[in-house]
Amino acid sequence: MLETISRVDTAFQFIFGISFAIMILITLVAVFFLFKYHHTKHPDASEIDGNVAAELTWTIIPTLIVLAMFWFGWSGYKALRSAPADSMEVQVTARMWSWKFEYPNGKTSKELYVPANKPVKLNMTSLDVIHSFYVPAYRVKMDTVPGMNTYVWFNAGEPAQYDILCAEYCGVRHAFMLSKVVVLPEEEYELWLASDEQPSTDKPEAVAILEKHGCIDCHSLDGTELVGPTFKDIYGRETVVVTPDGEMTVTADEKYLETAIYDPSAEIVKNYEDMMPPFKDEMSGDELDTVIEYFKSGGTQVEKPGEKGRVIA
Ligand code: CUA
Repeated sequence: MLETISRVDTAFQFIFGISFAIMILITLVAVFFLFKYHHTKHPDASEIDGNVAAELTWTIIPTLIVLAMFWFGWSGYKALRSAPADSMEVQVTARMWSWKFEYPNGKTSKELYVPANKPVKLNMTSLDVIHSFYVPAYRVKMDTVPGMNTYVWFNAGEPAQYDILCAEYCGVRHAFMLSKVVVLPEEEYELWLASDEQPSTDKPEAVAILEKHGCIDCHSLDGTELVGPTFKDIYGRETVVVTPDGEMTVTADEKYLETAIYDPSAEIVKNYEDMMPPFKDEMSGDELDTVIEYFKSGGTQVEKPGEKGRVIA
């Protein structure tokens, strides 16, 4: 087993083992005393005024136990916080409700790809609220906080796939903020890293862009109501929004869609303030044009079975 994993497990097992043993011991002693000092055998209560030996025992032994727990916890914590200098570094960006991983060569992905048996250090932040990056298999869990950088590291181990979860409640789709760590043999990883974005399938380019930026985590393509309005037939849709000057009807034309994507807290799309981060620095002008053209054309939805709400054309 990898070193940090075994340290976490050792601390857990030690504390659990001691606690369980003490619980059994106290229960047995309590039951024993119940009979030994039953009032029928000792009708007269006696007053005892201190017992140095007993007091020293119940002070010193628990102190030693607590110090031992601290030692296991502290040494494991130190190992978890000390990333080896040769760690591969990946930038992690959390947002409602997806993860983005960016590799040293600029490639990005929604699942985390790592080479086998290599230490990996993740430098993390969040674009909106506090999330928590959690990989049970590696025993790592760390908050991602807007405006702050946090990190975790782990040794990837043998080729396998592990779950990534968000462990901090972050809104209605918190439970779906899932991803995977994909551990590849080193040569395969290098190939993956050097290759272009995901091999193109027959899905429209615009849909690939919407997926890449995590748009479809909140906006469905098939009309399903998620957090945000569905993309289905969005072009030309009329919506009533509340502004300081009262209600007004806006039409989702090119201008509106651009504002809604690039600057969602602008007056005209006030409804979504605080719900959606601005994509100005994320989505290029070309990508935006492709997406808007796609909306204009109405898209052609083909439903994949069992993927309600994340349907891809
Ligand atoms: Cu992100 Cu919960």
